Amino acid sequence: MTSNKPLGAALFGVGRIGQVHLKNMVDSGRLIIRWLVDIPAQHGLMAELIKRHRLTGETQISDIESSQKVLSDPRVDVVIICTPTPTHYDIIKRALAAGKHVMCEKPLTLTISDTKDCYELARKQKKTLFCAYNRRFDKQFHTLYQRYKRGDIGNLRVVKFTSREGGQSKQYLQNNKSRIFLDMAIHDIDYICWLVGERPSSVCAFGSISSYNAELYQTFDDVDCVTAILNFPNGVMAQMEDTREANIGYEQKVEVLGTKGLIQTQNMKTSELCTITQNSCQSEALLGTFFDRYKDSFPTELNHFVDVIEGKEEILVSAESCIIAMEVSEALSESLKTGNIVKL
Ligand SMILES: NC(=O)c1ccc[n+]([C@@H]2O[C@H](COP(=O)([O-])OP(=O)(O)OC[C@H]3O[C@@H](n4cnc5c(N)ncnc54)[C@H](O)[C@@H]3O)[C@@H](O)[C@H]2O)c1
Repeated sequence: MTSNKPLGAALFGVGRIGQVHLKNMVDSGRLIIRWLVDIPAQHGLMAELIKRHRLTGETQISDIESSQKVLSDPRVDVVIICTPTPTHYDIIKRALAAGKHVMCEKPLTLTISDTKDCYELARKQKKTLFCAYNRRFDKQFHTLYQRYKRGDIGNLRVVKFTSREGGQSKQYLQNNKSRIFLDMAIHDIDYICWLVGERPSSVCAFGSISSYNAELYQTFDDVDCVTAILNFPNGVMAQMEDTREANIGYEQKVEVLGTKGLIQTQNMKTSELCTITQNSCQSEALLGTFFDRYKDSFPTELNHFVDVIEGKEEILVSAESCIIAMEVSEALSESLKTGNIVKL
């Protein structure tokens, strides 16, 4: 199927990531935004977004209760889901059942069985279900992947990941009901398994609550810092550190050691300026948030989704890889809880 006509779209959820996708949907010129769907408390914001993006006359507002009319709208080809994680399953299932293609924010659902269920329905309906692991579409990360695959560093031996963010709000933790591995570290898990090209055979994890905001994470029976090791059948070892509250901006580093060389990504800063005096050498601050660091990956990810629907590209995030990331995340959560090495 090849079509260059803009596709009709409905966006569920106009919060933080929803607004990022909305802007990219408009900028792409490949989607006509037919509906914005959110709770009544967000309808004022939605009206403002419609004005800001000059969508008046093209885009309607719906609340969640009456969202079935959105899904029954024959002008809607794709549904983009940016609502809190516990709501994904129901929206994905209803959208696929209504014959729509779906792009959904990570994690796809709260459980492995629900994720499998969604992909099974997508297969039956012959529709695309795309889990938005945006890190795969980041320039640095994508190039790292390509260089390793073309043999620049030989066979893979060790992968090291560091992800440190500036904290989550109480409301986010309350709404999303997924702890650190499923909510945050799943980005790293997905990327590592994609790079290594297989499922780990065993994993183990340790965690601590050590940030200045420790009490918040304790309230949600979570930790704010984890380290984990993923051991792969082909001999690769991966090591991850994920920290919720680092107070240093958004830190993201990857190091990949192969038999012939090493590839490292660099932290991205607000500017590449470096001020040098006799007594100091000072570079600029790190980018502040995940959204700043990954700004460029989101439009690329969205274009990929449209290309897949238009038959121009093979989907980069397969059902199998999405399920593997969920399984590893669950195994790591079990290891964190029990202190055991967990075999997959
Ligand atoms: N890929 C990424 O980089 C990334 C970054 C942030 C968040 N996320 C994911 O995106 C999702 C949303 O996160 P967020 O930070 O944007 O949250 P948010 O709270 O800022 O926004 C969620 C929005 O969904 C609305 N909403 C709640 N229930 C709804 C429903 N049933 N139907 C329609 N709208 C509903 C809320 O009113 C709110 O406007 C989560 O699953 C999260 O894991 C992904």
